[in-house]
Amino acid sequence: MSKKKTRLDFIKMKKEKEKVTWVTAYDFPTASFAEQAGIDMILVGDSMGMVILGYQDTIPVTMEDCISHCQAVRRGAPNTFCIGDMPFLSYQISNSEAVRNAGRFLKKAGMDAVKLEGGRRVSDQIRAIADAGILVMGHIGLTPQSSGQLGGFKAQGRDAASARELIKDALAIQEAGGYALLLEAVPPELTNFITKKLTIPIYSIGAGAPCDGQLLICGDMLGFFQAFTPKFVKKYANVAEIETNAFKEYIKDVKSGAFPTDDYVYHIRKGKEEEFYEMLKEFE
Ligand code: KIV
Repeated sequence: MSKKKTRLDFIKMKKEKEKVTWVTAYDFPTASFAEQAGIDMILVGDSMGMVILGYQDTIPVTMEDCISHCQAVRRGAPNTFCIGDMPFLSYQISNSEAVRNAGRFLKKAGMDAVKLEGGRRVSDQIRAIADAGILVMGHIGLTPQSSGQLGGFKAQGRDAASARELIKDALAIQEAGGYALLLEAVPPELTNFITKKLTIPIYSIGAGAPCDGQLLICGDMLGFFQAFTPKFVKKYANVAEIETNAFKEYIKDVKSGAFPTDDYVYHIRKGKEEEFYEMLKEFE
């Protein structure tokens, strides 16, 4: 079992150009499989709203949802650096609410860091959380909590004007004390520039290779989130197909009587059969 990585390990990996591997997980089994596979970091994303809770977007996800799923992930991956994702309206309203809610991820769920969405407009909250001694990661580009303002789940920063705004946001996050930054669905040319310009680790989900590590959503890469698949997703498994086929086979077996056979039952103990059938007579 490898030792849990820290912020310093991630800085060293950036210096040594070793890529960080990162996935989302929301439950005990997925977290433990990711840890057993040797993943560097886990994000308990508010994408849980869409991936496992069946919502249309991430807006309905609550702090209680996040804490409960972070606790399950921590139990499944005790030796992995885990980041709790701050849900919609858990940090936007005031700095004090942002700090209190960020703290709950650490105190109640044993997370190592938190992540929130937005650039300059949340830099005060980032500063307040960092000043409270909490590792806070920024997230810009396609920010799902503001997908309404962005006009949907669309790539960002694809022209000079919007790329300039994202560079300003990235600089503001570093300046406010963000310890790392996630870029989502932006061009690799922009990712490359931001990675070279900033000193903090820069991670990508759909933002190309030239950065310090990659994130994928477990439901996308394992093939159990079926609503849509973004262009940037590489599918490593088709769990939806595996599960559906298994359920189909089970249904067929039960209906036909092929399951359960003698291999799957607990008979009355040997030598106790006579006593058992005698006892049944009491109820006749
Ligand atoms: O919630 C999440 O999984 C995320 C990713 C979309 C980056 O924030």
